[in-house]
Amino acid sequence: ATPPPPRNEPVRDYAPGSPERASLRETLTAMRGEEMMVLPVVNGERVETGRTETIRPPHDLGHTLGTFHKARTEDVERAIRGALDARHDWSRMDWSDRAAIFLKAAELLAGPFRDRMNAATMLGQSKNPYQAEIDAACEMVDFFRFNVAFYREMMEEQPQSPAGVWNRTEYRPLEGFVFAVSPFNFTSIAANLPTAPALLGNTVLWKPAPTQTYSAQVIVELLQAAGLPPGVIQFLPGDGPDVGDPVLASEHLAGLHFTGSTQTFNHLWREIGNNLDHYNAYPRIVGETGGKDFIVAHESADPEAVATAIVRGSFEYQGQKCSAASRIYVEEALWPAVRESLEAQLAEITVGPVEDFSHFVNAVIDEKAYDKITGYVDRAAQADNVEVVHGGTHSKEDGYFVDPTVLLTDDPSYETMEQEIFGPVASVFVSDRSFDDLLDLVDSTSPYALTGAVFARDRAVLAHATDRLADAAGNFYLNDKPTGAVVGQQPFGGARGSGTNDKAGSKLNLLRWASLRSLKETF
Ligand code: SER
Repeated sequence: ATPPPPRNEPVRDYAPGSPERASLRETLTAMRGEEMMVLPVVNGERVETGRTETIRPPHDLGHTLGTFHKARTEDVERAIRGALDARHDWSRMDWSDRAAIFLKAAELLAGPFRDRMNAATMLGQSKNPYQAEIDAACEMVDFFRFNVAFYREMMEEQPQSPAGVWNRTEYRPLEGFVFAVSPFNFTSIAANLPTAPALLGNTVLWKPAPTQTYSAQVIVELLQAAGLPPGVIQFLPGDGPDVGDPVLASEHLAGLHFTGSTQTFNHLWREIGNNLDHYNAYPRIVGETGGKDFIVAHESADPEAVATAIVRGSFEYQGQKCSAASRIYVEEALWPAVRESLEAQLAEITVGPVEDFSHFVNAVIDEKAYDKITGYVDRAAQADNVEVVHGGTHSKEDGYFVDPTVLLTDDPSYETMEQEIFGPVASVFVSDRSFDDLLDLVDSTSPYALTGAVFARDRAVLAHATDRLADAAGNFYLNDKPTGAVVGQQPFGGARGSGTNDKAGSKLNLLRWASLRSLKETF
């Protein structure tokens, strides 16, 4: 069975006056009035647990979008049993039947589900239409389509067989269940973490971030509409320990597919280590964690391109992409022109709620994030060795709004140059060192290695920086911003403190969810 060749879903621009814009607006308005109930789904049944939390748009705290019910330990235990039962039929299903479910999900999302998934992401996670579209529509569609193609390609890799012998490789699912723990910042990642292992015949317990349950519920609706059988993906919104503890204690835990903070990933890894004697098999651990992503600009670079990369790389989605640029190194001779362009571009940017489609920056995800980010911003405003080039202001009156902030410091180890902030804050260090020394500084400043970018018009400089920073970023960009990896084009992930680098949206990632059996038959 040859699946249709994958293609990237074209990005809609929702231009003023377009029918797409009118349709998205209509869905958004309807959803604002809907009062959604987000419930755990165990064995295909929605469970009212009574342990509720109110869902509000981060940019409009006076409004209620709905309620989510948190999974209890007993729901999780039932979900584990159900996932193990469901595995029997799901893993035996022909691969093409499983693939067809996800291909159908892709077509439903590209069509009738698109507005609802985008509107849910706009309201629940405070994304403007463009940020929602590239994530909740296009990237999610791309994950579904490309994973199917990668899976097929993977299974085609078969060993040689000499005369009289038939050697085969069987790509079996892991024995047990997979635990998927997803972040708030990309609806597409939230969908990919449970569905990639499920495509290979695994059954999955999925815990979304408590701040992403609203669009997560729409993912559940989409997968059900596409025909996913009950029990294959158990949906378990809730608190970390309530969901995590029974899962990690189960001898059937066969894998962890994680995206989120380094701290949580390390905690889960340690817990798995502590329980090791207890598991039936070594759990596969795949994680994408933190970042402190950089832009380094050589004096030969185009200053306007550097400024655009800072504006888009640091401030799109309020700097809450794991790939967001947050430490910027510019050679002294180039800085005045970069600064001029940066200030001109930032003067055009507005901050506000998503209901006004024109805002470039919306709210950060919650109060905890707001307090952390504004702590950095306020300390910087008081610091002797920091100049606030732009922004520095914030308000949480109606929503968690932090203005895009550019800090200039002469201390390359100032806290905002080194620590992950996960907000709209870009810190600039203007360098009078040799470019080689600057590259050494970039490489040694952070424990992370997720994304990075180098800007230069001098080809030899690009080549040298690419070589010198070979281990500093899993996704490395030449003359482009470090965000916006596209499935099938730039497999995404980082090493060092940023994760296991099992590239989301690639064959490499899917291989981690297969347990290979070699068969030899002698005739
Ligand atoms: N894949 C996203 C990007 O490249 C981050 O998760 O921006």
